[in-house]
Amino acid sequence: MCSNSFHTYLQEAVTAARIAGQYQKSRFASSLDIEMKGDKNLVTEVDKESERLIVEHLLSHFPGHDIVAEEGDYLQGNSPYRWIIDPVDGTTNYAHCYPWFCTSIGLEFEGNLVTGVIYNPVYDELFTATKGGGAHLNGNRLAVSARKPLNCALLGTGFPYDCATDPVNNFASFIAFQKSARGIRRAGAAALDLAYVAAGRLDGFWELKLKAWDVAAGVLMVREAGGTVTTFDGSAYDIFNDRIVASNGLIHDEMVAMLAAVASGPDGEL
Ligand code: IPD
Ligand code: CA
Ligand code: CA
Repeated sequence: MCSNSFHTYLQEAVTAARIAGQYQKSRFASSLDIEMKGDKNLVTEVDKESERLIVEHLLSHFPGHDIVAEEGDYLQGNSPYRWIIDPVDGTTNYAHCYPWFCTSIGLEFEGNLVTGVIYNPVYDELFTATKGGGAHLNGNRLAVSARKPLNCALLGTGFPYDCATDPVNNFASFIAFQKSARGIRRAGAAALDLAYVAAGRLDGFWELKLKAWDVAAGVLMVREAGGTVTTFDGSAYDIFNDRIVASNGLIHDEMVAMLAAVASGPDGEL
């Protein structure tokens, strides 16, 4: 992959995210068709149309690339390029007219994350990352925070949609971190949580049962901003692993130790 095409991929991912973001803003707080994918898991017509717009844009520029996206099944060929797309991350927020959502687009080349775009259209904040090229917010270079130890840290997290029925629900970890960190935010869009770790606005983030489209762009962003991403036990993370810890690196060991303590406690691996 030459650097020229590398730039083209980022450029077209940015254009696709902006097209989707403009559409999402135009429909925000309007009457929406909403379906249930599970007890708590919504999908709106805006999720589907945003995805259609993004996929249409990317395939018009890069026909033959593989696509993995939350709301659709796309033919998986043998392309070394795979786009991983969450058209609206924060759908519950969006459906409730709570203005906290984004589009997340990641690109893998031969299985490695090379490009990530996360766009918050409400704030017009465009987070971008390229492998080896750093992470940026509206063109300005990002770096993770220098905050430590854990009791000075602001953390992000979320809860799986099946938290009412499956005891593997993050509740015990939430209580443990709420006691040991300065604070926790549960804002409702995991991709933005990761972008915020990259930007130094959060010092750490953990969650379980996330999907590849929630994290693909954000994982590259945190790494390119100098942060650390692992599984709960501190081992190497890939985007199909369903347990993620991302941090500024300085509080990472403390976060992993806390998750291990919770896992070995009375509530087990929650
Ligand atoms: C959800 C959000 C949320 C996280 C959920 C995700 P969606 O994605 O990222 O913050 O806690 O686990 O599924 O459904 O809004 O795309
Ligand atoms: Ca999502
Ligand atoms: Ca989504």
